[in-house]
Amino acid sequence: MQCANEWSCISETGCDCTPFSSWAAVCTLAHILADTMTDSQTDGAATESPMEFYEKLTAQGEAVKALKTGKAPKEEIDVAVKLLLQLKLDYKRVSGQDYKAGCPPTDSPASGESVPAAAEDGDDLVDPWTVATSNAKGIDYEKLIVRFGSSKIEAELIERMERVTGQKAHRFLRRGIFFSHRRVQQPCPSALDMHQILDAYENKKSFYLYTGRGPSSEAMHMGHLIPFIFTKWLQDVFDIPLVIQLTDDEKYLWKDLTLEDCHRYAVENAKDIIACGFDVNKTFIFSDLDYMGMSSGFYRNVVKIQKHVTFNQVKGIFGFTDSDCIGKISFPAIQAAPSFSTSFPQIFNGRKDIQCLIPCAIDQDPYFRMTRDVAPRIGYPKPALLHSTFFPALQGAQTKMSASDPNSSIFLTDTAKQIKNKINKHAFSGGKDTVEEHRKHGGDADVDVSFMYLTFFLEDDEKLEQIRQDYTSGALLTGELKKCLIETLQPMITQHQERRKQVTDETVKQFMTPRKLDFHF
Ligand code: TRP
Repeated sequence: MQCANEWSCISETGCDCTPFSSWAAVCTLAHILADTMTDSQTDGAATESPMEFYEKLTAQGEAVKALKTGKAPKEEIDVAVKLLLQLKLDYKRVSGQDYKAGCPPTDSPASGESVPAAAEDGDDLVDPWTVATSNAKGIDYEKLIVRFGSSKIEAELIERMERVTGQKAHRFLRRGIFFSHRRVQQPCPSALDMHQILDAYENKKSFYLYTGRGPSSEAMHMGHLIPFIFTKWLQDVFDIPLVIQLTDDEKYLWKDLTLEDCHRYAVENAKDIIACGFDVNKTFIFSDLDYMGMSSGFYRNVVKIQKHVTFNQVKGIFGFTDSDCIGKISFPAIQAAPSFSTSFPQIFNGRKDIQCLIPCAIDQDPYFRMTRDVAPRIGYPKPALLHSTFFPALQGAQTKMSASDPNSSIFLTDTAKQIKNKINKHAFSGGKDTVEEHRKHGGDADVDVSFMYLTFFLEDDEKLEQIRQDYTSGALLTGELKKCLIETLQPMITQHQERRKQVTDETVKQFMTPRKLDFHF
Protein backbone atom coordinates (compact mmCIF):
# COMPACT_ATOMS: atom_id res chain seq x y z
CA MET A 1 0.00 0.00 0.00
CA GLN A 2 1.23 3.46 -0.86
CA CYS A 3 1.16 5.83 2.01
CA ALA A 4 -0.92 8.76 0.81
CA ASN A 5 0.17 10.97 3.62
CA GLU A 6 3.76 11.08 2.55
CA TRP A 7 4.64 13.60 5.17
CA SER A 8 3.66 11.69 8.25
CA CYS A 9 5.73 8.81 7.05
CA ILE A 10 8.91 10.25 5.71
CA SER A 11 11.42 11.12 8.23
CA GLU A 12 10.60 9.05 11.26
CA THR A 13 10.44 5.91 9.17
CA GLY A 14 13.34 7.00 7.03
CA CYS A 15 15.81 5.43 9.39
CA ASP A 16 16.32 2.07 7.83
CA CYS A 17 18.14 0.62 10.79
CA THR A 18 15.09 0.60 13.02
CA PRO A 19 12.09 -1.58 12.34
CA PHE A 20 9.43 1.01 12.97
CA SER A 21 6.44 -1.21 12.69
CA SER A 22 4.64 1.14 15.04
CA TRP A 23 5.09 3.88 12.53
CA ALA A 24 3.25 1.80 10.03
CA ALA A 25 0.31 2.13 12.36
CA VAL A 26 0.78 5.86 12.61
CA CYS A 27 1.05 6.12 8.85
CA THR A 28 -2.09 4.18 8.37
CA LEU A 29 -3.78 6.43 10.80
CA ALA A 30 -2.53 9.39 8.84
CA HIS A 31 -4.14 7.86 5.78
CA ILE A 32 -7.58 7.97 7.05
CA LEU A 33 -7.37 11.58 7.78
CA ALA A 34 -5.47 12.40 4.65
CA ASP A 35 -7.90 10.97 2.24
CA THR A 36 -10.84 8.67 2.25
CA MET A 37 -11.87 6.00 4.61
CA THR A 38 -12.33 3.51 1.85
CA ASP A 39 -8.96 1.95 1.30
CA SER A 40 -7.60 2.21 4.78
CA GLN A 41 -10.18 -0.10 6.18
CA THR A 42 -9.63 -2.89 3.77
CA ASP A 43 -5.95 -3.36 4.22
CA GLY A 44 -6.25 -4.79 7.67
CA ALA A 45 -3.71 -2.44 9.19
CA ALA A 46 -3.48 -1.53 12.82
CA THR A 47 -5.82 1.44 12.53
CA GLU A 48 -9.23 1.03 14.00
CA SER A 49 -12.28 1.06 11.80
CA PRO A 50 -15.55 2.88 12.56
CA MET A 51 -16.92 -0.51 13.60
CA GLU A 52 -14.17 -0.94 16.17
CA PHE A 53 -14.75 2.59 17.44
CA TYR A 54 -18.45 1.77 17.60
CA GLU A 55 -17.84 -1.35 19.64
CA LYS A 56 -15.51 0.43 22.00
CA LEU A 57 -18.04 3.21 22.44
CA THR A 58 -20.81 0.73 23.16
CA ALA A 59 -18.63 -1.01 25.75
CA GLN A 60 -17.78 2.31 27.37
CA GLY A 61 -21.48 3.20 27.50
CA GLU A 62 -22.11 -0.07 29.32
CA ALA A 63 -19.24 0.67 31.69
CA VAL A 64 -20.69 4.08 32.56
CA LYS A 65 -24.10 2.51 33.17
CA ALA A 66 -22.58 -0.12 35.43
CA LEU A 67 -20.68 2.51 37.42
CA LYS A 68 -23.83 4.55 37.88
CA THR A 69 -25.98 1.62 38.98
CA GLY A 70 -23.17 0.42 41.23
CA LYS A 71 -23.08 3.91 42.82
CA ALA A 72 -19.39 4.25 42.09
CA PRO A 73 -17.56 7.36 43.38
CA LYS A 74 -18.38 10.51 41.44
CA GLU A 75 -14.79 10.97 40.26
CA GLU A 76 -14.73 7.51 38.74
CA ILE A 77 -18.01 8.14 36.92
CA ASP A 78 -16.74 11.52 35.69
CA VAL A 79 -13.65 9.97 34.17
CA ALA A 80 -15.68 7.26 32.47
CA VAL A 81 -18.13 9.82 31.11
CA LYS A 82 -15.32 12.01 29.84
CA LEU A 83 -13.89 9.05 27.99
CA LEU A 84 -17.31 8.25 26.60
CA LEU A 85 -17.76 11.78 25.27
CA GLN A 86 -14.34 11.75 23.70
CA LEU A 87 -15.05 8.40 22.08
CA LYS A 88 -18.27 9.84 20.67
CA LEU A 89 -16.37 12.72 19.11
CA ASP A 90 -13.77 10.37 17.70
CA TYR A 91 -16.44 8.09 16.34
CA LYS A 92 -18.04 10.98 14.55
CA ARG A 93 -14.75 12.05 13.05
CA VAL A 94 -13.93 8.59 11.81
CA SER A 95 -17.35 7.51 10.63
CA GLY A 96 -18.89 10.85 9.72
CA GLN A 97 -21.95 9.73 11.68
CA ASP A 98 -23.45 10.41 15.09
CA TYR A 99 -23.31 7.53 17.49
CA LYS A 100 -26.63 5.81 18.15
CA ALA A 101 -26.72 2.88 20.54
CA GLY A 102 -27.80 -0.23 18.70
CA CYS A 103 -27.11 1.28 15.25
CA PRO A 104 -23.69 0.22 13.96
CA PRO A 105 -21.98 2.50 11.45
CA THR A 106 -23.07 2.32 7.84
CA ASP A 107 -20.55 2.10 5.03
CA SER A 108 -20.64 5.71 3.87
CA PRO A 109 -17.21 7.28 3.76
CA ALA A 110 -16.20 9.83 6.34
CA SER A 111 -16.97 13.46 5.77
CA GLY A 112 -13.34 14.21 5.10
CA GLU A 113 -12.71 15.14 8.70
CA SER A 114 -9.68 13.58 10.23
CA VAL A 115 -9.23 10.97 12.90
CA PRO A 116 -7.79 12.33 16.09
CA ALA A 117 -4.12 12.82 16.67
CA ALA A 118 -4.43 10.36 19.46
CA ALA A 119 -5.76 7.05 18.34
CA GLU A 120 -6.93 5.65 21.58
CA ASP A 121 -5.05 2.63 22.59
CA GLY A 122 -7.08 0.26 24.63
CA ASP A 123 -8.80 2.90 26.65
CA ASP A 124 -6.00 5.47 26.72
CA LEU A 125 -6.41 8.84 25.07
CA VAL A 126 -3.42 11.12 24.80
CA ASP A 127 -3.13 14.30 22.79
CA PRO A 128 -2.20 17.89 23.66
CA TRP A 129 -5.74 18.52 24.92
CA THR A 130 -6.97 15.27 26.40
CA VAL A 131 -5.40 12.68 28.62
CA ALA A 132 -7.65 9.92 29.88
CA THR A 133 -7.61 6.24 30.65
CA SER A 134 -9.87 3.87 32.52
CA ASN A 135 -6.93 2.05 34.08
CA ALA A 136 -6.35 2.90 37.75
CA LYS A 137 -2.60 2.52 37.26
CA GLY A 138 -2.74 5.31 34.71
CA ILE A 139 -1.74 5.52 31.07
CA ASP A 140 0.05 2.50 29.63
CA TYR A 141 3.31 4.24 28.73
CA GLU A 142 4.91 1.17 27.20
CA LYS A 143 2.12 1.07 24.64
CA LEU A 144 2.34 4.81 24.12
CA ILE A 145 6.00 4.54 23.22
CA VAL A 146 5.15 2.01 20.57
CA ARG A 147 2.31 4.11 19.26
CA PHE A 148 4.29 7.34 19.17
CA GLY A 149 7.39 5.59 17.80
CA SER A 150 9.73 6.99 20.43
CA SER A 151 12.28 5.02 22.46
CA LYS A 152 12.34 4.02 26.07
CA ILE A 153 15.04 5.57 28.27
CA GLU A 154 16.95 2.45 29.24
CA ALA A 155 19.18 1.95 32.28
CA GLU A 156 22.19 2.03 29.99
CA LEU A 157 21.39 5.56 28.84
CA ILE A 158 20.97 6.74 32.41
CA GLU A 159 24.31 5.18 33.35
CA ARG A 160 25.97 6.90 30.45
CA MET A 161 24.49 10.20 31.45
CA GLU A 162 25.89 9.73 34.93
CA ARG A 163 29.30 8.84 33.52
CA VAL A 164 29.46 11.74 31.12
CA THR A 165 28.20 14.36 33.53
CA GLY A 166 29.73 12.93 36.70
CA GLN A 167 26.41 13.41 38.51
CA LYS A 168 23.80 11.07 39.86
CA ALA A 169 20.79 10.96 37.53
CA HIS A 170 17.78 12.95 38.66
CA ARG A 171 15.12 10.93 40.48
CA PHE A 172 12.74 11.59 37.55
CA LEU A 173 15.13 9.57 35.39
CA ARG A 174 15.87 6.91 37.98
CA ARG A 175 12.15 6.35 38.51
CA GLY A 176 11.02 6.36 34.91
CA ILE A 177 9.11 9.64 35.17
CA PHE A 178 11.07 10.97 32.22
CA PHE A 179 10.76 7.69 30.37
CA SER A 180 11.01 8.20 26.63
CA HIS A 181 13.15 10.03 24.10
CA ARG A 182 13.57 10.62 20.41
CA ARG A 183 16.73 10.32 18.42
CA VAL A 184 18.30 13.43 17.05
CA GLN A 185 19.31 12.63 13.54
CA GLN A 186 18.98 9.81 11.15
CA PRO A 187 20.43 7.56 10.00
CA CYS A 188 20.82 6.38 13.51
CA PRO A 189 22.72 3.13 14.09
CA SER A 190 22.07 2.74 17.76
CA ALA A 191 22.38 6.42 18.36
CA LEU A 192 19.36 7.62 20.20
CA ASP A 193 18.37 11.08 21.18
CA MET A 194 20.04 11.53 24.45
CA HIS A 195 23.05 9.57 23.25
CA GLN A 196 23.67 12.10 20.52
CA ILE A 197 23.25 14.94 22.93
CA LEU A 198 25.81 13.26 25.15
CA ASP A 199 28.13 12.75 22.17
CA ALA A 200 27.86 16.45 21.47
CA TYR A 201 28.50 17.27 25.08
CA GLU A 202 31.57 15.04 25.19
CA ASN A 203 32.84 16.77 22.06
CA LYS A 204 32.33 20.11 23.78
CA LYS A 205 29.58 21.00 21.33
CA SER A 206 26.94 23.09 22.94
CA PHE A 207 23.20 22.59 22.80
CA TYR A 208 20.27 24.38 24.37
CA LEU A 209 17.12 23.51 26.26
CA TYR A 210 13.60 24.50 25.27
CA THR A 211 10.44 23.93 27.25
CA GLY A 212 7.19 25.80 27.81
CA ARG A 213 3.87 26.28 29.43
CA GLY A 214 0.38 27.20 28.27
CA PRO A 215 -0.75 29.88 30.75
CA SER A 216 -4.44 29.01 31.11
CA SER A 217 -4.87 30.33 34.64
CA GLU A 218 -3.05 32.00 37.46
CA ALA A 219 -3.11 28.84 39.52
CA MET A 220 -0.33 26.37 38.95
CA HIS A 221 -0.23 22.99 40.63
CA MET A 222 2.57 20.60 41.47
CA GLY A 223 2.23 18.69 38.21
CA HIS A 224 3.03 21.84 36.26
CA LEU A 225 6.41 22.03 37.91
CA ILE A 226 7.64 18.59 36.78
CA PRO A 227 9.13 19.71 33.45
CA PHE A 228 10.62 22.80 35.07
CA ILE A 229 12.20 20.96 37.99
CA PHE A 230 13.75 18.57 35.52
CA THR A 231 14.83 21.27 33.10
CA LYS A 232 16.50 23.16 35.93
CA TRP A 233 18.46 20.04 36.79
CA LEU A 234 19.50 19.56 33.14
CA GLN A 235 20.56 23.17 32.92
CA ASP A 236 22.69 22.83 36.06
CA VAL A 237 24.27 19.59 34.91
CA PHE A 238 25.08 20.69 31.36
CA ASP A 239 25.44 24.44 31.89
CA ILE A 240 23.60 25.47 28.74
CA PRO A 241 21.11 28.14 27.65
CA LEU A 242 17.41 27.62 28.24
CA VAL A 243 14.43 29.20 26.50
CA ILE A 244 10.93 28.94 27.96
CA GLN A 245 7.91 29.63 25.78
CA LEU A 246 4.71 30.89 27.37
CA THR A 247 1.98 30.23 24.83
CA ASP A 248 -0.51 32.92 25.79
CA ASP A 249 -1.59 32.96 22.14
CA GLU A 250 -2.40 29.24 22.28
CA LYS A 251 -4.57 29.62 25.36
CA TYR A 252 -6.43 32.53 23.79
CA LEU A 253 -7.15 30.42 20.72
CA TRP A 254 -8.26 27.34 22.64
CA LYS A 255 -10.01 28.72 25.69
CA ASP A 256 -12.70 31.22 26.42
CA LEU A 257 -10.29 33.85 27.75
CA THR A 258 -9.37 37.38 26.74
CA LEU A 259 -5.96 38.17 25.28
CA GLU A 260 -5.23 40.39 28.27
CA ASP A 261 -5.99 37.58 30.71
CA CYS A 262 -3.78 35.12 28.84
CA HIS A 263 -0.92 37.56 28.83
CA ARG A 264 -1.39 38.31 32.52
CA TYR A 265 -1.38 34.60 33.32
CA ALA A 266 1.84 34.26 31.33
CA VAL A 267 3.54 36.84 33.53
CA GLU A 268 2.12 35.32 36.73
CA ASN A 269 3.17 31.82 35.71
CA ALA A 270 6.62 33.13 34.87
CA LYS A 271 6.99 33.96 38.57
CA ASP A 272 6.34 30.36 39.61
CA ILE A 273 8.70 29.15 36.93
CA ILE A 274 11.43 31.54 38.03
CA ALA A 275 10.87 30.34 41.62
CA CYS A 276 12.13 26.91 40.49
CA GLY A 277 15.57 28.52 40.67
CA PHE A 278 16.53 29.37 37.09
CA ASP A 279 19.56 31.54 36.50
CA VAL A 280 18.67 34.84 34.84
CA ASN A 281 22.01 34.88 33.03
CA LYS A 282 21.25 31.58 31.33
CA THR A 283 17.49 31.67 30.82
CA PHE A 284 15.17 33.53 28.49
CA ILE A 285 11.42 33.37 29.19
CA PHE A 286 9.07 34.78 26.58
CA SER A 287 5.39 35.35 25.94
CA ASP A 288 4.48 34.62 22.32
CA LEU A 289 2.31 37.73 22.24
CA ASP A 290 5.31 39.90 23.15
CA TYR A 291 8.24 38.18 21.52
CA MET A 292 6.79 37.35 18.12
CA GLY A 293 6.77 40.98 17.02
CA MET A 294 10.02 41.91 18.70
CA SER A 295 12.34 39.28 17.35
CA SER A 296 14.05 39.40 14.01
CA GLY A 297 14.24 35.61 13.95
CA PHE A 298 11.20 34.06 15.57
CA TYR A 299 8.46 35.05 13.16
CA ARG A 300 10.67 34.29 10.17
CA ASN A 301 10.96 30.72 11.39
CA VAL A 302 7.22 30.52 12.04
CA VAL A 303 6.58 31.48 8.43
CA LYS A 304 9.15 29.00 7.12
CA ILE A 305 7.46 26.23 9.06
CA GLN A 306 4.02 27.33 7.91
CA LYS A 307 5.15 27.13 4.30
CA HIS A 308 6.29 23.53 4.74
CA VAL A 309 3.32 22.01 6.50
CA THR A 310 -0.04 21.54 4.82
CA PHE A 311 -3.51 21.67 6.35
CA ASN A 312 -3.81 17.97 5.58
CA GLN A 313 -0.74 17.28 7.65
CA VAL A 314 -1.85 19.17 10.75
CA LYS A 315 -5.25 17.57 10.42
CA GLY A 316 -3.46 14.26 10.51
CA ILE A 317 -1.42 15.05 13.55
CA PHE A 318 -3.75 17.15 15.65
CA GLY A 319 -7.18 16.12 14.47
CA PHE A 320 -8.14 19.65 13.42
CA THR A 321 -11.33 19.85 11.45
CA ASP A 322 -12.66 22.25 8.83
CA SER A 323 -14.51 24.17 11.51
CA ASP A 324 -11.45 24.92 13.66
CA CYS A 325 -10.35 28.54 13.46
CA ILE A 326 -7.28 29.25 11.35
CA GLY A 327 -5.42 30.42 14.45
CA LYS A 328 -5.42 26.88 15.79
CA ILE A 329 -4.43 25.45 12.46
CA SER A 330 -1.33 27.62 12.22
CA PHE A 331 -0.42 27.53 15.91
CA PRO A 332 1.75 24.38 15.77
CA ALA A 333 4.29 26.40 13.76
CA ILE A 334 4.59 28.77 16.71
CA GLN A 335 5.29 26.00 19.20
CA ALA A 336 7.76 24.47 16.74
CA ALA A 337 9.80 27.62 16.05
CA PRO A 338 11.72 27.81 19.38
CA SER A 339 13.26 24.41 18.50
CA PHE A 340 15.50 26.27 16.04
CA SER A 341 18.34 28.41 17.31
CA THR A 342 17.76 31.16 14.72
CA SER A 343 14.57 32.04 16.57
CA PHE A 344 16.86 33.60 19.19
CA PRO A 345 19.49 35.61 17.31
CA GLN A 346 20.34 37.55 20.47
CA ILE A 347 21.38 34.33 22.21
CA PHE A 348 22.89 32.29 19.39
CA ASN A 349 24.35 35.10 17.35
CA GLY A 350 22.47 34.00 14.24
CA ARG A 351 23.84 30.46 14.30
CA LYS A 352 21.45 27.92 12.89
CA ASP A 353 23.18 24.73 13.88
CA ILE A 354 22.77 24.68 17.66
CA GLN A 355 21.07 21.46 18.70
CA CYS A 356 17.94 21.77 20.83
CA LEU A 357 16.74 19.40 23.58
CA ILE A 358 13.10 19.59 24.66
CA PRO A 359 11.96 18.13 27.99
CA CYS A 360 8.15 17.91 27.95
CA ALA A 361 5.19 15.79 28.97
CA ILE A 362 4.45 13.19 26.32
CA ASP A 363 1.16 14.81 25.31
CA GLN A 364 3.21 17.58 23.64
CA ASP A 365 4.91 15.10 21.34
CA PRO A 366 2.63 15.70 18.33
CA TYR A 367 4.00 19.26 18.07
CA PHE A 368 7.53 18.00 17.97
CA ARG A 369 6.88 15.12 15.60
CA MET A 370 5.81 17.83 13.21
CA THR A 371 8.86 19.93 14.07
CA ARG A 372 11.25 17.05 13.48
CA ASP A 373 9.69 16.34 10.12
CA VAL A 374 9.91 19.89 8.94
CA ALA A 375 13.43 20.61 10.27
CA PRO A 376 15.58 19.08 7.50
CA ARG A 377 13.38 20.66 4.86
CA ILE A 378 14.13 24.14 6.15
CA GLY A 379 17.78 23.42 6.81
CA TYR A 380 17.80 23.00 10.58
CA PRO A 381 18.80 20.16 12.92
CA LYS A 382 15.95 18.18 14.44
CA PRO A 383 15.32 18.79 18.10
CA ALA A 384 15.80 15.94 20.57
CA LEU A 385 13.11 15.13 23.11
CA LEU A 386 12.77 13.78 26.61
CA HIS A 387 9.21 12.80 27.47
CA SER A 388 7.67 12.64 30.91
CA THR A 389 4.69 10.74 32.19
CA PHE A 390 1.76 12.67 33.66
CA PHE A 391 1.40 13.69 37.24
CA PRO A 392 -1.77 11.97 38.45
CA ALA A 393 -4.79 13.75 39.89
CA LEU A 394 -5.41 13.17 43.60
CA GLN A 395 -8.46 11.14 42.63
CA GLY A 396 -6.42 8.64 40.65
CA ALA A 397 -4.11 8.11 37.71
CA GLN A 398 -6.95 7.91 35.20
CA THR A 399 -6.67 11.54 34.31
CA LYS A 400 -4.51 14.66 34.37
CA MET A 401 -5.29 17.23 37.00
CA SER A 402 -7.60 20.04 36.23
CA ALA A 403 -6.73 23.57 37.24
CA SER A 404 -10.44 24.28 37.59
CA ASP A 405 -10.99 21.60 40.25
CA PRO A 406 -9.20 22.75 43.43
CA ASN A 407 -9.49 19.29 44.97
CA SER A 408 -7.86 17.48 42.07
CA SER A 409 -4.38 18.61 42.96
CA ILE A 410 -2.02 20.37 45.31
CA PHE A 411 -1.66 23.97 44.20
CA LEU A 412 1.47 26.00 44.64
CA THR A 413 -0.57 28.45 46.71
CA ASP A 414 -2.00 25.83 49.11
CA THR A 415 -1.31 26.25 52.81
CA ALA A 416 0.23 23.45 54.88
CA LYS A 417 -3.21 22.77 56.31
CA GLN A 418 -4.86 22.59 52.89
CA ILE A 419 -2.19 20.16 51.72
CA LYS A 420 -2.84 17.94 54.71
CA ASN A 421 -6.62 18.01 54.27
CA LYS A 422 -6.50 17.42 50.54
CA ILE A 423 -4.25 14.42 50.85
CA ASN A 424 -6.16 12.90 53.74
CA LYS A 425 -9.54 13.50 52.11
CA HIS A 426 -8.95 13.14 48.41
CA ALA A 427 -5.83 11.13 47.64
CA PHE A 428 -7.02 7.87 46.12
CA SER A 429 -5.86 4.99 48.27
CA GLY A 430 -4.74 1.52 47.30
CA GLY A 431 -5.24 0.42 50.90
CA LYS A 432 -7.86 -1.98 52.20
CA ASP A 433 -11.12 -0.92 53.80
CA THR A 434 -10.30 -1.98 57.34
CA VAL A 435 -7.06 -2.08 59.30
CA GLU A 436 -7.46 -5.84 59.81
CA GLU A 437 -7.85 -6.50 56.11
CA HIS A 438 -4.99 -4.15 55.29
CA ARG A 439 -2.66 -5.86 57.77
CA LYS A 440 -3.65 -9.20 56.31
CA HIS A 441 -3.57 -8.51 52.58
CA GLY A 442 -1.51 -5.33 52.25
CA GLY A 443 -2.15 -2.32 50.00
CA ASP A 444 -1.68 -1.81 46.26
CA ALA A 445 1.05 0.79 45.76
CA ASP A 446 0.55 0.75 41.98
CA VAL A 447 -2.82 2.48 42.20
CA ASP A 448 -2.18 4.49 45.35
CA VAL A 449 -1.89 8.19 44.57
CA SER A 450 0.03 9.06 47.73
CA PHE A 451 2.63 6.50 46.80
CA MET A 452 2.74 7.80 43.23
CA TYR A 453 3.31 11.35 44.50
CA LEU A 454 6.15 10.08 46.69
CA THR A 455 7.82 8.55 43.62
CA PHE A 456 7.83 12.06 42.15
CA PHE A 457 9.00 13.93 45.21
CA LEU A 458 10.73 11.74 47.78
CA GLU A 459 14.43 11.95 47.00
CA ASP A 460 15.63 8.94 49.01
CA ASP A 461 15.49 5.77 46.87
CA GLU A 462 15.90 3.39 49.78
CA LYS A 463 13.22 5.02 51.85
CA LEU A 464 10.83 4.91 48.91
CA GLU A 465 11.50 1.21 48.36
CA GLN A 466 10.99 0.52 52.05
CA ILE A 467 7.65 2.32 51.95
CA ARG A 468 6.59 0.33 48.92
CA GLN A 469 7.46 -2.94 50.62
CA ASP A 470 5.83 -2.05 53.91
CA TYR A 471 2.69 -0.79 52.24
CA THR A 472 2.41 -3.88 50.07
CA SER A 473 2.93 -6.20 53.02
CA GLY A 474 0.40 -4.35 55.16
CA ALA A 475 2.92 -3.20 57.75
CA LEU A 476 2.34 0.42 56.69
CA LEU A 477 -1.21 1.77 56.87
CA THR A 478 -2.76 4.25 54.44
CA GLY A 479 -2.84 6.98 57.09
CA GLU A 480 0.88 6.50 57.74
CA LEU A 481 1.66 6.59 54.03
CA LYS A 482 -0.34 9.79 53.66
CA LYS A 483 1.44 11.32 56.63
CA CYS A 484 4.75 10.65 54.95
CA LEU A 485 3.56 12.36 51.77
CA ILE A 486 2.20 15.33 53.71
CA GLU A 487 5.54 15.75 55.46
CA THR A 488 7.37 15.59 52.14
CA LEU A 489 5.18 18.10 50.32
CA GLN A 490 4.54 20.71 53.00
CA PRO A 491 8.13 21.98 53.24
CA MET A 492 8.57 21.80 49.45
CA ILE A 493 5.55 24.00 48.83
CA THR A 494 6.46 26.41 51.64
CA GLN A 495 9.93 26.82 50.18
CA HIS A 496 8.47 27.38 46.74
CA GLN A 497 6.18 30.07 48.14
CA GLU A 498 9.10 31.78 49.84
CA ARG A 499 11.14 31.78 46.64
CA ARG A 500 8.18 33.06 44.67
CA LYS A 501 7.76 35.97 47.07
CA GLN A 502 11.29 37.05 46.20
CA VAL A 503 10.40 37.27 42.51
CA THR A 504 9.55 40.89 41.76
CA ASP A 505 8.07 42.42 38.61
CA GLU A 506 11.56 43.67 37.91
CA THR A 507 12.95 40.11 38.04
CA VAL A 508 10.27 38.92 35.62
CA LYS A 509 11.11 41.77 33.28
CA GLN A 510 14.77 40.78 33.32
CA PHE A 511 14.00 37.17 32.42
CA MET A 512 11.57 38.24 29.70
CA THR A 513 13.77 40.82 27.99
CA PRO A 514 15.40 39.55 24.78
CA ARG A 515 19.13 39.75 25.46
CA LYS A 516 22.40 37.93 25.13
CA LEU A 517 22.93 35.26 27.77
CA ASP A 518 26.17 34.25 29.47
CA PHE A 519 27.25 32.06 26.56
CA HIS A 520 29.35 32.86 23.54
CA PHE A 521 28.22 31.59 20.19
N1 TRP B 1 1.59 23.76 24.60
C1 TRP B 1 2.15 23.68 25.93
C2 TRP B 1 1.02 23.71 26.96
O1 TRP B 1 -0.10 23.94 26.67
C3 TRP B 1 3.13 24.78 26.20
C4 TRP B 1 4.45 24.63 25.48
C5 TRP B 1 4.93 25.47 24.50
C6 TRP B 1 5.44 23.64 25.69
N2 TRP B 1 6.15 25.05 24.08
C7 TRP B 1 6.51 23.95 24.80
C8 TRP B 1 5.55 22.55 26.57
C9 TRP B 1 7.65 23.15 24.77
C10 TRP B 1 6.70 21.76 26.51
C11 TRP B 1 7.75 22.07 25.62
O2 TRP B 1 1.29 23.49 28.12
